[in-house]
Amino acid sequence: MEINNISIWNSTISNEEKILKEKFSEIGNLPKHIAIIMDGNGRWAINRNLDRSYGHKEGIESIKKIVKAASNIGINYLTLYAFSIENWNRPKEEVDILMNLLVIHLNKELDQLHRNNVKITTIGNFSSLPATAQEILNESIEMTKHNNGLNLTFALSYSGRWDIIQAVKKIANEIKLETLEINDIDVDIFSQYLTTRNLPDPDLLIRTSGEMRISNYLLWEIAYSEMYITDTFWPDFNRNELYKAIESFNSRERRFGKISEQL
Ligand code: IPE
Ligand code: IPE
Ligand code: MG
Repeated sequence: MEINNISIWNSTISNEEKILKEKFSEIGNLPKHIAIIMDGNGRWAINRNLDRSYGHKEGIESIKKIVKAASNIGINYLTLYAFSIENWNRPKEEVDILMNLLVIHLNKELDQLHRNNVKITTIGNFSSLPATAQEILNESIEMTKHNNGLNLTFALSYSGRWDIIQAVKKIANEIKLETLEINDIDVDIFSQYLTTRNLPDPDLLIRTSGEMRISNYLLWEIAYSEMYITDTFWPDFNRNELYKAIESFNSRERRFGKISEQL
């Protein structure tokens, strides 16, 4: 269904998605929160003798596909690593391209996302983003704040260590002001000071492009996340790849330190 060029994803849900949705809901084990390290845009482009920027453009298309697929099969939270604090060290032209792509595509897709009940949020050092990016992000967050469909979070100027340090500073300040007691600090209290405070911990962490590392993503939150690493570069990642990752997640036994018999 299309209204003013805006498609309502649920009404175009494919048979394949319907079958998968039923299958996943039968198993009752759909990950509630999927976090993705979207990696390999540059290599995807270099392999085609193209400038790295083409990889980033194509990577946006993957984001659109994955957001729609995640929403259609009923994932509650999708958190995408779009730009790390370390990525500021890339050549300025590449940083500018990445920030411009964010602004252009969020502007273009915002109505569509809103109509599909997606709630947009961010994690990371928001105030370090360019003013144009802050503007469209603020507009997106404000417009979608009452939506109760997919929670789509962009990790922007984010790093796990940065988030932990800014949390520690806030906590130290509260202790100084005597609004918090040292002995009251526990996992739940600490989590409330992170920029991820409104997100449950990821159940499934996906990294594309085959790299076996975390690259400073969600260090605190992935304590018990299941990991799925695929050699596929992010621009080639699609619905079927997402389903494969979920199938893999479904085959895991999450023990959280216990033994099988206790589960
Ligand atoms: C991921 O792709 C996008 C960002 C980090 C912003 P890369 O740009 O890291 O691509 P590779 O890893 O160099 O191939
Ligand atoms: C991680 O990818 C950051 C994002 C996907 C945004 P990188 O390409 O920056 O990671 P490293 O440098 O290879 O570890
Ligand atoms: Mg990379």
